[in-house]
Amino acid sequence: MKVLLLGGGAREHAMAWALSRSPKVTDLTVSPGNPGIANIARIVDLDPCDGNAVRTFALKNNIDMVVIGPEAPLVEGVADVLRESGIKVFGPGKDGARLEGSKAFSKEFMKRNGIPTASFDICTNMDQARDALLKRTAPYIVKADGLAAGKGAFVLESTEEAISKAEDLLVDRSLGKAGEKIVIEDCLKGTELTVLTITDGHTIRPLSPSQDHKRVYDNDKGPNTGGMGAYSPVPWAGSELMNRVTSEVLEPTLNGLKKEEIDFCGVIYAGLMIDEHKNPWVIEYNVRFGDPETQVVLPVLKGDIAEIIEKCCLGKLADAKMDAAEKWAADVVIASGGYPGEYKKDIVIKGLDEANAMENVLIFHAGTSKDDEGNVVTNGGRVLSIVGMDKDNLDNAVSQAYQAVEKIHFTGMHFRKDIASKAKDFS
Ligand code: AMP
Ligand code: GLY
Repeated sequence: MKVLLLGGGAREHAMAWALSRSPKVTDLTVSPGNPGIANIARIVDLDPCDGNAVRTFALKNNIDMVVIGPEAPLVEGVADVLRESGIKVFGPGKDGARLEGSKAFSKEFMKRNGIPTASFDICTNMDQARDALLKRTAPYIVKADGLAAGKGAFVLESTEEAISKAEDLLVDRSLGKAGEKIVIEDCLKGTELTVLTITDGHTIRPLSPSQDHKRVYDNDKGPNTGGMGAYSPVPWAGSELMNRVTSEVLEPTLNGLKKEEIDFCGVIYAGLMIDEHKNPWVIEYNVRFGDPETQVVLPVLKGDIAEIIEKCCLGKLADAKMDAAEKWAADVVIASGGYPGEYKKDIVIKGLDEANAMENVLIFHAGTSKDDEGNVVTNGGRVLSIVGMDKDNLDNAVSQAYQAVEKIHFTGMHFRKDIASKAKDFS
């Protein structure tokens, strides 16, 4: 199979790594890719959100299957453009992508389909927003309806702050059109869990459960980020909890999609809050693999991801051979100094070869590029995902990742030192 993968972060590096290991994939092209991906695939320069450009490239190069990594092209409808031309695509069309592209749509979808989620109000003006806030108590959750690159959800401690945030979004349009509508909802308490599920619209196949670390500092302090690390599987998310997630969240989600005649081929990302009684609640859906969850979920997957994705595109996911996890993995994200605020770029990264040479370690590039002398330099907020693996034990996977992190240096780099500390929750 000739495969084209769209995207250029550590998630896509992990996807490219997994696809390139498959005997089914004879040719892998990634766009826009990054210097790490360039070591294992051909890079071409396409705008992933330009459906016509992607289609022209795919047809001209006899691409058998396009795999879409990030949400923006999905929400733009790139999958629809490709499908209309008969190209196999892994990723939902515009219709299905509303589960991520509009928080108002996704909350109403959950309500219509009896999927457990925090009770909510959708507001388009300040009168509605004030009413919605005043009938709740702190902490307040205020979210922009549209895509905001992970920066559209706010947890606020006082009524004044919450009203002012609603005003920022609705009146001052701090996030532009994404804040035309806002969702105000109850605050859920518990521990977060990510369940990535592959679906062809008929069958759901959950992958190994994982946990993201969204705050920038240890012990969940500081502002939210794109994700500072992850691990998989999660020891307390055993078959009992996963069965409940399947029957209370995933199956009703699939049934809702069917009932509403939304064709869905791709990943449903269920971002869950697990409360103290171990009940699952949906915080949000995404319609693609998570970042940094993918960097740990694909390495532990027992199965050929290219075959699974191809079967999914053919509507035959039920025939795919896969087993959620056969080992443990932990990912430590190394970020630029200042991230998630402002940060410098073009800082030379040292120690990559040494870390790469370690056994049971995978280095996935996120925000990197090459300078004129061929050095790998920083080019983004999240720079690298450093994954440690172990076949028996999560602690070993974590320490393997941190040993690799030790070998890497660039000025200003920072990372969390407590990845997987919630693995012992509920015990
Ligand atoms: P979202 O963009 O909806 O995933 O929200 C980003 C993050 O904000 C989540 O991962 C949670 O950590 C937090 N969050 C969002 N909604 C809620 C909620 N209803 N209750 C508690 N925390 C929330
Ligand atoms: N890990 C959060 C996300 O992918 O949106």
